[in-house]
Amino acid sequence: MESEIKCFTSDHVSTEEQSICDKPQDEINSNLDMSLSQAESHKLPIDKTLVSEFKQMKLEKEAQKNWDLFYKRNTTNFFKDRHWTTREFEELKSCRQFESQRLVLLEAGCGVGNCIFPLLEEDRNIFIYACDFSQRAVDFVKQHPLYCPERCKAFRCDLTQDDLRGEVPPASVDVVTLIFVLSAIHPEKMVRSLENIFRVLKPGGCVLFRDYGLNDHAMQRFKAANKLGQNFYVRQDGTRSFFFSKELLAELFEGRGFRSVANDYVFRETVNKKEGLCVQRVFLQSKFTKTHQTETSP
Ligand SMILES: C[S@@+](CC[C@H](N)C(=O)[O-])C[C@H]1O[C@@H](n2cnc3c(N)ncnc32)[C@H](O)[C@@H]1O
Repeated sequence: MESEIKCFTSDHVSTEEQSICDKPQDEINSNLDMSLSQAESHKLPIDKTLVSEFKQMKLEKEAQKNWDLFYKRNTTNFFKDRHWTTREFEELKSCRQFESQRLVLLEAGCGVGNCIFPLLEEDRNIFIYACDFSQRAVDFVKQHPLYCPERCKAFRCDLTQDDLRGEVPPASVDVVTLIFVLSAIHPEKMVRSLENIFRVLKPGGCVLFRDYGLNDHAMQRFKAANKLGQNFYVRQDGTRSFFFSKELLAELFEGRGFRSVANDYVFRETVNKKEGLCVQRVFLQSKFTKTHQTETSP
C-alpha cells in the first residue's frame, strides 16, 4: 500500500495516524511501556544540541509557507479521510441537547478536509467552519465535491494571530476539533491559539483533541539535528511537531478556562506487513469543555 510505504520512508509519518486507527484489534497493543529503552535513553545526552536560534526563527517565520509547500507537493493525497472521528469521539453524536439540533463545528487546522467531509457525509444536520493557515489547503477544501456553502465555510486563518471572530460569531460553536494541529504550532504560541478558539466556543461547548503523545515512534525517529526544544522537532520539509504529555496539555487548557473531561494516551502498534515492520505509536486523545461560568475575553 502506498500510504504504508510512505509511513516509513518520509519524515512525515502522519499517514500512520489514520492507518493505525483502522487496524484490527489483534494488531493493537494497548499495554505499551511509556519508558524509553536502554538504547534510546543513551541517545538523550546527545540530543541536548538544538537547532540554532537563527534557523528556529526562520522556521517560525516560514511556518505557513512550509505547510503551503507541503500541500503543493502532496495535494490532497497525503492524509486519508478520517472516518474514525465519530467512532472515537462519541460526543459528536451525543452532544446535542435535542435530536434535531443543528450542530455547529469548527475544524481548526483543517488541512484539505480529511476530517470534515466524512462528517458532512455522515451527519446531515451539521454545519462546519473549517480553517487553516495554508491558503492552498483551504482552496482544496473549497474544491471538494461535497463542499457547499449551506453546510460548510472554509477560510484562511492563522490560529496564533488572526481572530477567529472575523469569520465565526463569538460563542457560537458547539464543538471544536483540533486534530494533529496544536503539535504543528510553536509551544509559545499554543496558548494564543487556545484563547482564540475559546472565544468562538459556546459556554458548555467542547474541544475534541487528538495529537502526538510523548515518546511516540515519530519522536524516537528524529535525529539530534532536528531538535528545536523539549519534545519539539523539525521535519525535513520544515514543518514542526511537538509531542505532548497529558500533564502539559491539561495545564495548557485549564490555564485558559477549559475543564478537562478526558485526557488519555492511546497506544497503538502500526504493522506494515509488506516491510515486516511494527512500530509503536502514542497519541493523546482528550476532551475539554468551556465551563458555563467562564466569560468570553475581549
Ligand atoms: C497534520 S495537519 C492536520 C490536518 C487536519 N486536521 C486533519 O486531521 O487532516 C496540520 C494542519 O495544521 C495547519 N496549521 C499549522 N499551524 C497552523 C496555524 N498556526 N493556524 C492554522 N493552521 C495551522 C497546517 O497547515 C496543516 O494543515
